[in-house]
Amino acid sequence: MLEQPPQRLALMRATLQKFFPWVWMAIVLLLISGYWLLFTVQGGFAFAGLHVHLMQGLAWVMILLFGWMYWGAWDDFREAVDGANWQQAGADLARIRRVIAINLPLGLAVVVIGASGRWWV
Ligand code: HEM
Repeated sequence: MLEQPPQRLALMRATLQKFFPWVWMAIVLLLISGYWLLFTVQGGFAFAGLHVHLMQGLAWVMILLFGWMYWGAWDDFREAVDGANWQQAGADLARIRRVIAINLPLGLAVVVIGASGRWWV
């Protein structure tokens, strides 16, 4: 059964609070492993295929969008839930969802581009 708005929004706040540190960790690990591969194994940008440039570019788009959401809508959402301002919290959660709706397909596309690139560049 669907929870009522206050419970649902408080649950989303608690869930995302636990989830976002994992996103930050994934960002750091992807950047370290990606640039390590690029500069040590592949010999730098000059030797990188189109798939690596696409991967890197899309990763930065995703990181910037996530950061914008984290310090914008996510801050507002937490403040609204903590202040029991449910109407505002609902609107802020919709803003968070819009960013996820962009980053999710982008991330899936990067996985496909990264994993298949060596066969088409
Ligand atoms: C959303 C973030 C990213 C995802 C999902 C992702 C995914 C992948 C995948 C699935 C592979 C293929 C691994 C394999 O063939 O075994 C790969 C390879 C690679 N990635 Fe990424 N990557 C991301 C970000 C980055 C970034 C920021 C860089 C930095 C330049 C990077 C550089 C590389 C390089 C150099 C390779 C090796 C390509 C090759 O073997 O031809 N990646 N990545």
